[in-house]
Amino acid sequence: MLTAEQTDAYRRDGFLVLERFVAAEACDALRARAEALVADFDAEAVRSVFSTTSRVQERDEYFLGSGGGIGFFFEEEAFDAEGRLTVPKDRALNKLGHAMHDLDPVFDRFSRNPDIATVVADLGYEDPRLLQSMYIFKQPGIGGEVVPHQDATFLRTEPSSVLGLWFALEDADRDNGCLWALPGGQGLGLKSLYRRDPEAGMVMEVLDDSPFDLAAGRPLEVPKGTMIVLHGLLPHWSAPNRSPRSRHAYTLHVIDGRARYLADNWLQRPPELPLRGF
Ligand code: FE2
Repeated sequence: MLTAEQTDAYRRDGFLVLERFVAAEACDALRARAEALVADFDAEAVRSVFSTTSRVQERDEYFLGSGGGIGFFFEEEAFDAEGRLTVPKDRALNKLGHAMHDLDPVFDRFSRNPDIATVVADLGYEDPRLLQSMYIFKQPGIGGEVVPHQDATFLRTEPSSVLGLWFALEDADRDNGCLWALPGGQGLGLKSLYRRDPEAGMVMEVLDDSPFDLAAGRPLEVPKGTMIVLHGLLPHWSAPNRSPRSRHAYTLHVIDGRARYLADNWLQRPPELPLRGF
C-alpha cells in the first residue's frame, strides 16, 4: 500500500498524510453513528460531573472508566458560570472515548478497514492491537485547543510503540482547528509521562522540560477522508475552533502486541475486553 517514498517520509517527518484515504460515505456513516450515540446520551447525568470544579475525583473516575467503555466528554466552554449548558448537547461535547472500536459495530467496521491494516503492517507492525478510539467534535465556536503533546506520554509500552491514526471526517484547515505537527520531532525523545500513582492518583512526570519549537510546526490542512499517521513520539497539537464550522475527526491508537503494556497507564481495559487487532 505505501510506497518507499511514503515510508521514508514517515521515518523522516514522524507523520504521513494520506489524502482521501477513506471514502466520504464511510466518514458520513461514522458521523451519523456518533450523532445517534449523542442523541441517546443522558447529558444531565454527566454534565454535573464536568461542570463543577469540586468534582475532580468523580471526573477522574469517569475518565479512567472510559478505557473500556464509551464516555462522553464536554467542551470546557459549553457551560455558563452556574454550570448550565449554553448550547444543545450535540454542540456541547468535545469527544467520545475510548473503546468504541470494540463496543460499537459501526466504529468497529470503520476501524478495521483492511486498507488501514495494510498501512499499519507496512510501517512494521506485525501484531498490531487497537488500544483506543476517540471521536473528536471540535465544535463550532467553542472547540477547545489540544496543547502540544506526544501520544507516547499517555499510552506507554516498553519499548514505546504507540501509533496514532487521525481521520478527517470533514475538511480541516487553520480556521476550524486542523492538526499541527512538528516535522522530525519524534527524534526529540519523550518529554513527559502520564501515569497512575498509588498515592497521588494520576501524575504527569516531566522528563525533559525544554519546550517544543512550535514556530517550526506545520499545519496539516487536509480534505475529508484523509488519514494522518502519527509516530507516537511526534509532537502535535491543534488550535481552538473559533469558526462557525465543526471539525469532526476520529482517532485510533495502535500498539505493538509484542511490547509490554505498562500497568500504570491510565488506560486499563477490563479483563473481559482484551485488546484485538484488525
Ligand atoms: Fe494526540
